[in-house]
Amino acid sequence: MTQGSTGRFFVIEGIDGCGKSTQVERLVAQQGWLATREPGGTELGATIRGLILHGSEAPTPLAEALLMAADRAHQVATVIRPALESGTTVLCDRYAGSTVAYQGWGHQGDLDQISAINAIATGGLLPNRTILLDVPVDVALGRRGSDPDRLEALDTSFHERVRAGYLAQAAEDRDRWTVVDGTDSLAEVSAAVDRALGL
Ligand code: TMP
Repeated sequence: MTQGSTGRFFVIEGIDGCGKSTQVERLVAQQGWLATREPGGTELGATIRGLILHGSEAPTPLAEALLMAADRAHQVATVIRPALESGTTVLCDRYAGSTVAYQGWGHQGDLDQISAINAIATGGLLPNRTILLDVPVDVALGRRGSDPDRLEALDTSFHERVRAGYLAQAAEDRDRWTVVDGTDSLAEVSAAVDRALGL
């Protein structure tokens, strides 16, 4: 967290179909926090999101990482930092950990390069806590809609690597990450998320 910021910055991460959106909607309704997401939390980001997930041409993995980073850099500067500086708590659906998990582990990109890209995009802004909502890939697949986006449509082994990439990040940084078992009941998951966020 940058000195002078007063709001708290929370992030929720996980593979597609892990149940993040339900938790974000619940927390925002209960706490009145500012909710946003990546990619697509700004008008520019929504355009970038469309290019990445629904464009006619799939970006290369490096281009994909850079597009995610462009979305993040813009949103950090125009939404997240200003909100934190005004004392607002921000809850972001995905952040830099997604680029490590998807473009790094999923697409097997260069992790050092991705870390450097993330550092530029975030300007060093780290979440106070990241919740990893962990579910096995087969469970997540069963929860997804019938019209998958370009990344959701990738094969099971891609999503297994993404899940492993998330668990590795959480294991490496237990001070900032908390793993919540997303296969528990909604009430149990919600209680575990609340505990992790100090609610
Ligand atoms: P969402 O459906 O949870 O909003 O996520 C959008 C997709 O974008 C999801 O498949 C994960 C992917 N993604 C990345 O691959 N890298 C990133 O850095 C981010 C933020 C999302």
